[in-house]
Amino acid sequence: MSVARDAGGGGIQPAEYVTLHGRASSLVIEVSGAEAPLWRYWGPRLPDASSPGPGLRSTRHVPPSSLEFDQPLTIFPTFGAGWFGRSALHAHRDGQAFAQAFGQCDQLPGEPRRATFRLLDDVARLSVTVDIALDDHDVLTMSTVLRNEGDAVLDVGWLAAGVLPLPGACDTVHSFYGQWSAEFQPQAEPLTRSTWERQNRRGRTSHDTFPGASVTTPGATFDTGLVYGAHLGWSGNHEQFIEWLHDGGYQWQFGEWLAPGEARLAPGETLASPPLHASCSVEGRNGLARNFHAALRRLLPWPGGTMRPRPVHLNTWEAVYFDHRLDDLTDLADAAAAIGVERFVLDDGWFHGRHHDRAALGDWWPDEGKYPHGLAPLADHVRARGMEFGLWVEPEMVNPDSDLFRAHPDWTLQIAGRPLLTGRNQLVLDISRPEVAQYLFDCLDALLRATSIAYLKWDMNRDLTTAGVGSGAAGYRKQVLALYALIDRVRAAHPAVEIESCSSGGARIDFGVLRHTHRVWTSDCNDALSRVAIQRGALQFISPEVMGAHVGPAPAHTTGRSQPLAFRAAVALPGHLGVEADVRRLDESERAELAAWIALYKSLRDRLHGGRVWQGEAGDSIVWQAHGEAHGEARGEARVEPSASVSDPAAGPADEVLLFVYRLQPPTFRYPPAIRLPMLRRDCAYRVERLDPLPPAADTGIHRPNTTPLDDALRDGGATLDGAWLAAAGLPLPRMPAESAIILRLNAQP
Ligand code: DGJ
Repeated sequence: MSVARDAGGGGIQPAEYVTLHGRASSLVIEVSGAEAPLWRYWGPRLPDASSPGPGLRSTRHVPPSSLEFDQPLTIFPTFGAGWFGRSALHAHRDGQAFAQAFGQCDQLPGEPRRATFRLLDDVARLSVTVDIALDDHDVLTMSTVLRNEGDAVLDVGWLAAGVLPLPGACDTVHSFYGQWSAEFQPQAEPLTRSTWERQNRRGRTSHDTFPGASVTTPGATFDTGLVYGAHLGWSGNHEQFIEWLHDGGYQWQFGEWLAPGEARLAPGETLASPPLHASCSVEGRNGLARNFHAALRRLLPWPGGTMRPRPVHLNTWEAVYFDHRLDDLTDLADAAAAIGVERFVLDDGWFHGRHHDRAALGDWWPDEGKYPHGLAPLADHVRARGMEFGLWVEPEMVNPDSDLFRAHPDWTLQIAGRPLLTGRNQLVLDISRPEVAQYLFDCLDALLRATSIAYLKWDMNRDLTTAGVGSGAAGYRKQVLALYALIDRVRAAHPAVEIESCSSGGARIDFGVLRHTHRVWTSDCNDALSRVAIQRGALQFISPEVMGAHVGPAPAHTTGRSQPLAFRAAVALPGHLGVEADVRRLDESERAELAAWIALYKSLRDRLHGGRVWQGEAGDSIVWQAHGEAHGEARGEARVEPSASVSDPAAGPADEVLLFVYRLQPPTFRYPPAIRLPMLRRDCAYRVERLDPLPPAADTGIHRPNTTPLDDALRDGGATLDGAWLAAAGLPLPRMPAESAIILRLNAQP
């Protein structure tokens, strides 16, 4: 951080600036002690000595029919300061103090690359602390703490976690919609002079309103152009909006959506926002993804501080559902071990009275009929086959038909006089109540002590509604904080256990939960064609090693569509790989094929997990993604320390790239378009070889007769191709049938 002082002169107002520089971005804030600091800049890196010069007000006239007092965008704009945009704070004290303004601003001592401002409104009697940190991966983390300095209750309806300035050149906002089994559906909307807004009121992160978006400027591509992105690290309700301002720019506010009465601060109480993670890049949306992946890698709480190679899962859900029989499961474990699975996860159906989804949630001990000697015999069998044992739980939930609900009907979130609305036949426990949290901790602790469990799949299968706590006040926020506390308590007691965040598939994927867990279940949809889109969306923010990706059965249980095993495996392979099928039912050649894919994953996972991800589209429904390390850096560096610097593109283009090419629909062009690979070095050739195992002859369809001499060479030891050519003109592709994939490794030959 550097502080610059403009010399001023004449009528020009001198000004003081706080400037934070990242690797490729900078931000500049104009500070005075008597108001909230003004946003001056957030964008591509400025030279160290660069300064805006005159204070902002010295550069702006008073427009006709306007206040004489000019109020530009601040880091925390509020109504009481003559601001007509949306306020960063909606609050009142029994109908008073609705218009806040800050007459005092102190900068608190901080670390390099971090600025913390304490704003005081001695009329409305509140203070706000805004913290802004910019890391060396260009990720800006903002958070806000509001304190009631008065002597009566302060009702809060909105507190922005962060207020970001966007330049007027921004023209498109990219966000996600979706539903169960169809998360991360991309949508692009123009930015106009009307406000763009998204809200999530489902009480969990949600399938349909991921708490993040990116904003592009005209001409931005996957790899070039100025883009901005923001993500709220929070697993509950949220709101974001982008509002056009009269100087042609925009303000982007992001924070927690608060239900009426949810945040009432007694004198001296504080309300802390979740962290807002934001970034800008001149390297297009792939550059933005790189920054978010690096930020996430710093947050992930790996046991022992280091990520282990992501073990191959077998998850029992789509193999046996609720029909748990010890013999079947031990057979399944044998079959899984034989194809190379490393972690066997026993999904829903194992606990007391759980034979369908209408009963038993809350009764967290092994079903006496299915597991007369507890889970240890199965876990021991699994471990004897060299695999870890994992277990599914859904602690926040209770079925009305359960011993727990019969004993404690008052433990659910509820509002007196309102019907209890069920979702998947279940209700939500008020886990902010200490006795409820204690019960759940005791159940989980007992399970983890009784059996050698290395992994919990922590599920959460319904939205929150009538989420009343205690006297009936809204409890969404408390619920999220209580969840984090419960997970942390379990982790503190069992530090080696890894935890997956699952929520009917991908309804709880965010940096908030990933500060406490180690993987997400991306979607219940294992249809590989659908998965391509879901995973491409998730990869905009989430790094591949935490993205659960399973090879499911054909036909897929959620869509009824069938795809060749090679396509299903190639789509799952770049993520955290698993199998979600009854592998006993595969014939011998399919089992051998799946084993070959698992072996390939094991040989590549160190390269896939920890470096950069580039995505692109070739046209004619061919999409691709590449994983690699930048030239000049140690491979696998990300795995050594979560805080280590990873894949710094400043180190140069990539030496080694793993390329996944997916054809989604049948070709409409006679010849496939070439794939331009902008991440490659221009100064050398690459050895290019094809890695995907050859499918059995019967699966190849019309593909084999259409191979080219180049394709044959890539399969048969590889070919040497010029890096500059591949970057500029592109890699020629073979003719591929719909729903097929090829995987290539490109190695620089200096
Ligand atoms: C929803 C999850 O997303 C599935 O993977 C599975 O665990 C079921 N719940 C079990 O009820």
